[in-house]
Amino acid sequence: MRKCNFFLLLLLADTDDGIPRPPPPIVGKVTHYCIDLYWDEAMERSNQVVGQRIRVCLQEQDKMFQWGNIYTGYAKNHTVNGLDPQTTYTYRIRFMTSDDESEWSPHVTVSTTKEPLNGEHLHRAIIRNVVEDVVKVLDTGDVSTDVNDKYGFSALMQASQKGYLEIMEVLLEKGADVHLQNDAGKTALMLACFAGQFEAVKLLRQHGAKYDDYDRGGSTAMHWAVDGGNVRLLDWMIKDGADVNIRDRGSGWTPLIRCASLSGNRSVALTLVQAGAKINTQDKDGKTALMVAIINGHQDLVELLLKKNADLSVTNEYGKTAYEMAHSMERRRIVRVLDDHLQSRGIKLKGIMT
Ligand SMILES: *[C@@H]1O[C@H](CO)[C@@H](O)[C@H](O)[C@H]1NC(C)=O
Ligand SMILES: *[C@@H]1O[C@H](CO)[C@@H](O)[C@H](O)[C@H]1NC(C)=O
Repeated sequence: MRKCNFFLLLLLADTDDGIPRPPPPIVGKVTHYCIDLYWDEAMERSNQVVGQRIRVCLQEQDKMFQWGNIYTGYAKNHTVNGLDPQTTYTYRIRFMTSDDESEWSPHVTVSTTKEPLNGEHLHRAIIRNVVEDVVKVLDTGDVSTDVNDKYGFSALMQASQKGYLEIMEVLLEKGADVHLQNDAGKTALMLACFAGQFEAVKLLRQHGAKYDDYDRGGSTAMHWAVDGGNVRLLDWMIKDGADVNIRDRGSGWTPLIRCASLSGNRSVALTLVQAGAKINTQDKDGKTALMVAIINGHQDLVELLLKKNADLSVTNEYGKTAYEMAHSMERRRIVRVLDDHLQSRGIKLKGIMT
């Protein structure tokens, strides 16, 4: 073997001058987007033959079978990047010195591998609500059940807020974590509550989702359920053990105050009150649900709260009553509602001219 090589070397050296034709580049690691190519040994051999430093030119064949340079230089290998998955590529090399070049090597063809499935595939399958695809992605073992999308939503959060029960079941069966929180600190339960997804909420509760998790803004699932406005869901949650008077960690709002500050929806408030919401609870600034409803001009809700005996003598941190707030904000219709209420009950508020 050695003898043979030696002979070959002599032969090549003798026949001159010319740089010998290199073998095709050797294929190293191949992924779905890159291919490693080597010619280190061939280059060394040619180097010895020619006795000069050798450059390489690496070419790739395009779809029209035209060759194009993709690397020229002194390296002994090259990684071709940015390739398409499951695609065949063809390469060849030639060696060069300052005044000579070899013939092109025979070419080598390489196929990139299949793209491994990733979190995006899982989330796409969920968004399209295709259970089989979700199963397929998870069955590869390449993708974690709890993988986030780019907004920090886990697969279960995504499925929960959309109410895709079958997918939720698959995810839960594969061990999805119900307690995860997204970038805003929201759990799957909070998202399902806000979206009013009754069945999703039930399923999450069966798997241990908690009512006393807080998001980054300090809200709980109850607060989000109030915003979501699904009264049947709210009712069920309270029966299921959610605290109807739980305060958020921002303003100290109960679900009832939250309702008074946002939607002002009367049916939502009524559901809360009937389930035991305290009417006169004050937030961090001493405001009651009645005051907050007045500030936001929710007349329906003001009427409801009065009917449920909201206390008009409560004052906020500046010593103002709800009545004074309505006055100073010039909420005329609400002032009239308050006046009627006071009159019908024969109540006289101290120090207020009506
Ligand atoms: C590719 O060549 C460079 C030098 O040109 C070297 O540092 C590197 O280790 C080589 N890569 C491999 C995988 O051999
Ligand atoms: C209040 O909520 C109920 C129950 O979700 C809904 O049917 C109703 O349309 C809402 N009312 C208003 C004024 O938004």
